[in-house]
Amino acid sequence: MSKTIKDIAALKQAGEKIAMLTAYDSSFSYAADQAGVDVLLVGDSLGMVVQGQNTTLPVSVNDMVYHARAVRRGAPDAYIVVDMPYLSVSTPERALKNAGKIIQRAYANMVKIEGGDSVLSSIKALVENNVPVCGHLGLQPQSVELAGGYQVQGREHSQAEKIMREAQALEAAGVQMLVLECVPADLARAISLQLSIPVIGIGAGVDCDGQVLVCYDMLGLTAGKRPRFSHDFLQESASNQEAIALYVSRVKQAEFPSEQHSFK
Ligand code: KIV
Repeated sequence: MSKTIKDIAALKQAGEKIAMLTAYDSSFSYAADQAGVDVLLVGDSLGMVVQGQNTTLPVSVNDMVYHARAVRRGAPDAYIVVDMPYLSVSTPERALKNAGKIIQRAYANMVKIEGGDSVLSSIKALVENNVPVCGHLGLQPQSVELAGGYQVQGREHSQAEKIMREAQALEAAGVQMLVLECVPADLARAISLQLSIPVIGIGAGVDCDGQVLVCYDMLGLTAGKRPRFSHDFLQESASNQEAIALYVSRVKQAEFPSEQHSFK
């Protein structure tokens, strides 16, 4: 049976951690689905890990559709979230046109949008038109040029308050899931407790409702230095399949992430 948002939300209600992993092709989505991953994310990180770009900014809507279609073929019943790439939701009209492509051509279940206040009108337009949306706060890779790099967000009191306020505004606007990237673990815990929708962390501590990692990072394939919040699960496993299953089990047992993968 195909998974729905009700199945994912029920995990939070039951206190069961949600295991999410990126996927960019059908072989990996099949393997991840078989290993018990709850949600597959076709992240625009594909621009960096698949296309070899320096940032996610060059990724197009058509790139997302191409990879999302492949991911769907490998896992027909999985719950699949697809990133809206750079500038694709800059107005409500653009958001509707581009999200429509992703939902209709790639059979995605939900689209993910980076940002808070600045994208609220686009998110409201999507929700009003029955497009399920996942938010993304904290470190936002699409803003890397503006911010001048990749940094932990929410360490200062005013910044933490803004992230909490935007998380609440996103939920009020109808967002049904939220990714929090690279924020202090205490802030992520407070947001996860405050919101009734599932909050999925990456570099956000163990107390989120679930975790997500870039699949290449968790298989030790990262070019250069692996991000501190990630872990190479293949080092402890005999196969890719075992490594993915180990990731799922560590997330479910709240054994991953540990303090060494988290920020204060
Ligand atoms: O693009 C991506 O893979 C993401 C995750 C890092 C959350 O947004």
